[in-house]
Amino acid sequence: MKNIIKYSCSECGYTTTTKTGKCPACGSWGSFEAVQENNFNSNLNPNTTKNFNPVKNISRAIDVKAPERICTGISEFDRVLGGGLVSGSVVLIGGQPGIGKSTLLLQSAGSVAKNLNSPVLYISGEEAQSQVAMRASRIGILSENLFLYCDQNLENALNILNEHDFKFFVLDSVQAMNADNNSGWPGSPNQIRAVAQKIIDISRLKNIPAVMIGHITKDGKIAGPMLLEHMVDTVLNFSGEGYSSYRMLRALKNRYGNTEELGIFEMSENGLKPVIDKSGLYWNKNDSAVPGVAMTIALEGNTPLAVEFQILATRTIFPYPRRTARGIEINRFQLLTAVIDRRCGIPANNHDLYINIAGGLNVQDPSGDLPACAAIASALKNIPLPAGTCWLGEVGLAGEVRPVTRISMRLREAARLGFKSAVISSREKLSGDNKNNFGLENLIRVKNLSEALKFMNN
Ligand code: TYD
Ligand code: MG
Repeated sequence: MKNIIKYSCSECGYTTTTKTGKCPACGSWGSFEAVQENNFNSNLNPNTTKNFNPVKNISRAIDVKAPERICTGISEFDRVLGGGLVSGSVVLIGGQPGIGKSTLLLQSAGSVAKNLNSPVLYISGEEAQSQVAMRASRIGILSENLFLYCDQNLENALNILNEHDFKFFVLDSVQAMNADNNSGWPGSPNQIRAVAQKIIDISRLKNIPAVMIGHITKDGKIAGPMLLEHMVDTVLNFSGEGYSSYRMLRALKNRYGNTEELGIFEMSENGLKPVIDKSGLYWNKNDSAVPGVAMTIALEGNTPLAVEFQILATRTIFPYPRRTARGIEINRFQLLTAVIDRRCGIPANNHDLYINIAGGLNVQDPSGDLPACAAIASALKNIPLPAGTCWLGEVGLAGEVRPVTRISMRLREAARLGFKSAVISSREKLSGDNKNNFGLENLIRVKNLSEALKFMNN
C-alpha cells in the first residue's frame, strides 16, 4: 500500500500534492496542512464492496416523513428556520458583535425551556455565569429548566450533554470553545472545525437540535474555515443597519426550509421583540412630494414590504457620469438608466445618479424595476411623482412593463397601508376580489415605460 502525502487547505478543504504559501482555491495564506492519505485504489476490496447496494427506489424504500421540529416560540425565528428547529440538526448563526446573537439565543433557550417544560442547556464560552444570568433575568426568561454552563472546555460540556437529556442546546460561540486533543488556540481553523464536528456528532447522537453562534470577519463571512458552513444544516445571518434598533434574520443555507424568509426583530430594553406588522417599517411617509422618490411593495419571501426608492440626480462635472447604488445591484441600476434614456428619450448622460433604498434594505425582487425607472425619470426631470402611488412591474430592455408575482397580495397590502393608486402592467391577470381594485382608488395599467411616465406629468 502506497502512502501519499497531500496538503489540505484548512480554510476551504482544497487538496494538492505540493505545498504552496497561498491557496489557489480560496486565496488564504499559510493554510496548508499535511494529511496522510492512503492510495484510494488500494482500499478497494472486491469481496467487501459487493455487499453494499444502493437503494433502488428511494420513495418506496424509505418512509418519507416530515422532520420532527421543536418550535422555539419566537415567531420570527421559527419562520426563518422553516417552522422551528429540526431534531438532530445544527444551526450556525453569524452576525456583527453586539448585534444581539446571544440575546436571541438566550431568549429562544428560555422560551423552549418554559413552553415545552423541558431542560435546555446554554453553553457560554464568552461570558461569565453571573453575566448570562443577569441578562436572562433582565429579559425575563429565568426558569428552572434553563441550565447554564459557562466554560471554554468543550469536553466537559459534551459530558454534561451526554449525561442529561436536554431538549435543545446553544453553544456561544464556536470560536470561544476549546476542543481537547487538538492543537491551536480557540478560534483557529483546526479548533473551530473540531468543535463544530463534536457538536454535530452529539446533536445527531442525542437527536436534539443545537444552535452554534459564530463570529464574523470584517467582510461579513463567518470567521473560521469555509468548511464550517458546509458541515452544518442551516446557516443564519443576523444583521442590523447603523443605529437602527431593527434587526434582520435571514437563512443563507437551509436544509430544512427555504432561504427566502426575512425575520425582523426590534431590540428593546428587555430583549428582542419580533416585529409582526412589518410592511410599513421602511416607509418614511414624507408628506411633501420630492422628485426622485418612488414607492413599491416588494416581497421578501412571503412578507410584503413597502420600499422607498430614492434617486438624486446632479449635473456631472466628470467626463463620465457617476452611478452609485445602495440597496440595488449597480448593473441593474445602470441597465434601467439606459432603458429610460433610450426608450423614453430622457437623457441621463450629463447627470450623476445616486440611488438609495431607504432603511438599508437590499431589493432583489424584479418588481423594483418600475419604481426605480419612475424615480430615475422623476429625478432627471426634477418633477415629483404623484403622491400615494406605488409602482409594481418588471421592466424589459424594450421598455415594456411586465407582470410581477403575487400581484393581488401586493395590491391588497398597498391599500391597507394607505396608498391611493398603483401603476401595474397591462398584462397583469388579476384574480378574485378585483372589482373594487383591491381597495385602491385607482389602478393604472400600462404597457410600457412611456405610458407609465405619462402618468407622472399629470
Ligand atoms: P448581544 O446579544 O450580547 O450581542 P452579540 O452576542 O451578537 O455580540 O447583544 C448586545 C447588545 O444588545 C448590547 O449592546 C446591549 C443590547 N441589548 C439591549 O438593548 N437590550 C437587551 O435586553 C439586551 C439583552 C441587550
Ligand atoms: Mg454574544
